[in-house]
Amino acid sequence: MKRIAVLTSGGDAPGMNAAIRGVVRYASNSDAKLDVYGVQRGYEGLIKGKLSRMDGRSVSDTIHRGGTILKTARCMEFTTDAGIEQAFKVLKAYEIEGLVVIGGDGSFRGMKDLRDKFNFPCVGIPGTIDNDLGYTDFTLGFDTAVNTVLSAINNIRDTMTSHDRACVIEVMGRNCGDIAVYAGLAGGAEAMVVPEMPFDIDELIEKMRRNVLKGKASDIIILAEGMTSCETLKKELEDKTGITLRTIKLGYIQRGGTPTMADRIFAARCAVRAVDLLVQGKSGRVVGSKDNKIIDVEVGEALKMKKTFDKDLYRIATILGQ
Ligand code: F6P
Repeated sequence: MKRIAVLTSGGDAPGMNAAIRGVVRYASNSDAKLDVYGVQRGYEGLIKGKLSRMDGRSVSDTIHRGGTILKTARCMEFTTDAGIEQAFKVLKAYEIEGLVVIGGDGSFRGMKDLRDKFNFPCVGIPGTIDNDLGYTDFTLGFDTAVNTVLSAINNIRDTMTSHDRACVIEVMGRNCGDIAVYAGLAGGAEAMVVPEMPFDIDELIEKMRRNVLKGKASDIIILAEGMTSCETLKKELEDKTGITLRTIKLGYIQRGGTPTMADRIFAARCAVRAVDLLVQGKSGRVVGSKDNKIIDVEVGEALKMKKTFDKDLYRIATILGQ
């Protein structure tokens, strides 16, 4: 193998640049001595032939940056046979022999199609803040996103406590409550509303009333996106408890920012494994972590694995938030 390409796809996540850097530097500086091409805007750029040569210097000064220097996109065309065939033609034209895809489940499905249809060597690195992939304990960007939410909780708590107000904080995660639970536990939230657990509003109302009797009216409620809107929840809680509430939807703040140490280290380890796999001719595998060890799993198997929600963490967070 002489030449590989790397792309980022789907929602960006902090640590993607550290992963691109890892792929480029390890592929070109290790014994493999590969040429590396960067693809702009994910699969969309692959279809359009937006590739350019990268070297160690192309990734200087990027390890600490959020977002992705390669840019990203959600590409519907790559879900069609014509789109995948066009991308394959581009890869052949550039004499690319292996592809590293950094993205979430949608990006991995695209990678699987490319492997299945054209037997093209691909490997994946899990880049998404959502932590919603079943085969890996963590995804790249999750740690940073949780720390961003945590820092927001800290600030919001200061002002809510001063005014005796409660606050509903809406966080991202698509269908996964991990950002809400990890940030809730670490930030001492009083309640977390997540898709994986039944939500009883009357219980929450009771809890808030009890907290008022204990002298506290500044509860922090973390709401995972997609459950209900923070405004709707606020109105119901305000009507039934009489407590003054405020809301904040953290939104894209969670997707940006300088990656944490954990995400940078994870990015480097994933990048090295991804390049090693391509060099060893092991295609169609996605890299992840289990019990702090780097693992790789066949992409089809990985996509079938259901994400298990950590109910114990939720239980601990709920008990400690009383
Ligand atoms: O997958 C990452 C994520 O930020 C989700 O948490 C969120 O639901 C979604 O992407 C938002 O997507 P978009 O960038 O298309 O608005």
